[in-house]
Amino acid sequence: MRTLIITLLFLCATSITTLGAKLPRFGVDPVEDVVAAMTLEEKVNLVVGTMRDYIYFPDPAPGMPMRTEGFVEGRPGTAFSEGRVKGAAGDSYAVPRLGIPAIVMADGPAGVRIDATRQGQEATFFCTAFPTGSALAATWDTAVVDSVGKAIGTEARHYGVDILLAPALNIMRSPLCGRNFEYYSEDPLLAGSMAAAYVRGVQSNGVGATLKHYAVNNQETMRNGVDAVVSDRALRDIYLRGFEIAVRESFPMAVMSAYNSINGTVAPENKYLLTDILRGEWDFDGFVMTDWWAEGNGAVQTAAGNDMLMPGTWRQYDEIMNAVKDGTLDVKLLDRNVANILRAFAQTPAGKGLSYDNAPDLTANARTARNAAAQGMVLLKNQNNTLPLAPGKNIALFGNSGYDTMVGGTGSGNVNRAYKVNIHEGLANADLNVDTNLKAAYLDHIRLAKADSKQDDVWSITVADEKIITTDEALRAARDNDAAVFVIGRMAGESADRTLAEGDWFLSPTERANLDVVMTAFNNASKPVIVLMNMGGVMDMDDWNHIPDAILLTWLAGQETGNAVADVLTGKTSPSGRLPMTIARRYNDYPSASNFPHSTNPGTVYYDEDIFVGYRGFDKADIQPVYPFGYGLSYTTFDYAGETITPHRDGAITYDIDITNTGTAPGAEVVQLYNLAPENPDTSRFTAPVLPAKQLVAFAKTRVLQPGETQHLTVNIPADRFSYYNQATKSRQTIPVNIFRK
Ligand code: GLC
Repeated sequence: MRTLIITLLFLCATSITTLGAKLPRFGVDPVEDVVAAMTLEEKVNLVVGTMRDYIYFPDPAPGMPMRTEGFVEGRPGTAFSEGRVKGAAGDSYAVPRLGIPAIVMADGPAGVRIDATRQGQEATFFCTAFPTGSALAATWDTAVVDSVGKAIGTEARHYGVDILLAPALNIMRSPLCGRNFEYYSEDPLLAGSMAAAYVRGVQSNGVGATLKHYAVNNQETMRNGVDAVVSDRALRDIYLRGFEIAVRESFPMAVMSAYNSINGTVAPENKYLLTDILRGEWDFDGFVMTDWWAEGNGAVQTAAGNDMLMPGTWRQYDEIMNAVKDGTLDVKLLDRNVANILRAFAQTPAGKGLSYDNAPDLTANARTARNAAAQGMVLLKNQNNTLPLAPGKNIALFGNSGYDTMVGGTGSGNVNRAYKVNIHEGLANADLNVDTNLKAAYLDHIRLAKADSKQDDVWSITVADEKIITTDEALRAARDNDAAVFVIGRMAGESADRTLAEGDWFLSPTERANLDVVMTAFNNASKPVIVLMNMGGVMDMDDWNHIPDAILLTWLAGQETGNAVADVLTGKTSPSGRLPMTIARRYNDYPSASNFPHSTNPGTVYYDEDIFVGYRGFDKADIQPVYPFGYGLSYTTFDYAGETITPHRDGAITYDIDITNTGTAPGAEVVQLYNLAPENPDTSRFTAPVLPAKQLVAFAKTRVLQPGETQHLTVNIPADRFSYYNQATKSRQTIPVNIFRK
């Protein structure tokens, strides 16, 4: 009884201020009232994450001082992953006095990243490793991406994560960007549409999603200080366009500002991006957080509209506190940001006081991952209908990645998964007989090669040197098997870009020699060779693309990669993926090649190609790629009929078409609609620079159609897809509708 009375007295006391007025309660009373009741210290604590004693800072930009702020004796802060959900990327400060809970934020685009085990606990907290961004975009299917976002959102919800730090939708300006595996495309419509679908999926669970990295974060080299010099038009029509689409179509709870600078101002201090455009033009109503330990002054970031500084340092806290006290930061701006944060937090599970059970349905989510993985794989070559393979076939599987398969990238986008299905296991699961001699030899090779390496972790995965295949091994394998599957693997990761080196952009000498030996042996035996590209992006193919009979780009397709590869190789799933980026004949054909990862001075990148990124640039230069944007084969054929284009008064277009499977295998088709530039633009109206020869304005994917089956597709295209940003008038200007289906 005594305890009850004391508790009741305590509850009364905490809900009544010293003056007797009732304290507002977060989640109950208007946010403005809660903000008004907060002390300055509570406000500054709320806008700076809790992890103030964790000492890690990325390399500074050239000329910037090495940052050393970190633990400050006597000033509290949580160390990494000491919050409510172990291994989560960051937490916010609670203000119990007003009922404001701590909010947990965790990565990442390919699945929730938290620690899989906790000290002193039997329970495990594994998460599903889903296909990475490029694999999801290659599905060209927003319904599939929504299903993946929904599944990831269930795991966040069950594990007590309030906000997921995903999706990542930066434009693939260069094929060498180290994080392209996490991104979607070289095209802003495809990127923005995939991001919007992902956000809708995640947020359908009541968990927040975060668009990142806003914006123009297209490389990892000196990412903390590189200055992207980009025209307003390229900014609007390419680098911000995907974010605009995703904000308008999915209402994300948060946006994460990027590390880099844009036209001389570092993203977290960039008011033009964070306030004028994001909020002023797109009506974004969530909150903006920095990337982790991003450059910039806390007070300047606060004024610019960067609401929250993550994961938080005492330097940022002091910068804001001192600026308010000395009058250089108007406390109204701090109040504005606090209100933005609290409005968003109120929508989160913790903000609503919801409990969680740490028991997501990982089995169901693995099925979702496997389906998405198979839908995203792109069949680049299939001469003489080499694929699909009939069950029971004997397969000679070559390549380290066939046995130690790449399923995800390193860095914040990694996932602590319970398992991965390697390609050899997936083939065996699909009743394909993997050559036992080769399997033993490769597994031995990989075990020995990795014996002395440190345990793989989130930030680094050891990749064994490629095993050398002797002529005798190839000849024996060709005798004993029906086909060869040859896997080329490339790891990908945050914080470093790829290189134009052998073993990265190019085949390594061993890979090339192995491919020649295997091709000779199997060709002489009149048996096919199928190459699998197990990687998060693309690579040089011009040198070897002519050699194999078939080529399948598997991407980094998550923990179920092996099974999904088998699903496609056996035809259980007909390949329907399409390239979300161009595969050039030569690296220098990419429009960004002469300005990546910097222009003349390290630290500055001139986006001289302007809007002509990816296929826009190849069209302008009239350069043929090896495989173009949007390319991908199927095991069947399709017919198109009844195409109609219906214009509407507001400039929108409705496009209708009937698609029939005219082949002998099931398959799904992707309809890609481009708008062609006017042949002879009326220059009196088009004072803008040249328009791209074509640009994607809409796309849609059929369901899997059985042979002979027809599906009618109706595609609604908003008017603003037929426009460009006129930087003279600082507004979007319409262009003639001239739709072309590819
Ligand atoms: C990183 C990444 C970002 C991630 C954040 C938290 O450095 O750039 O994508 O969400 O830190 O881990």
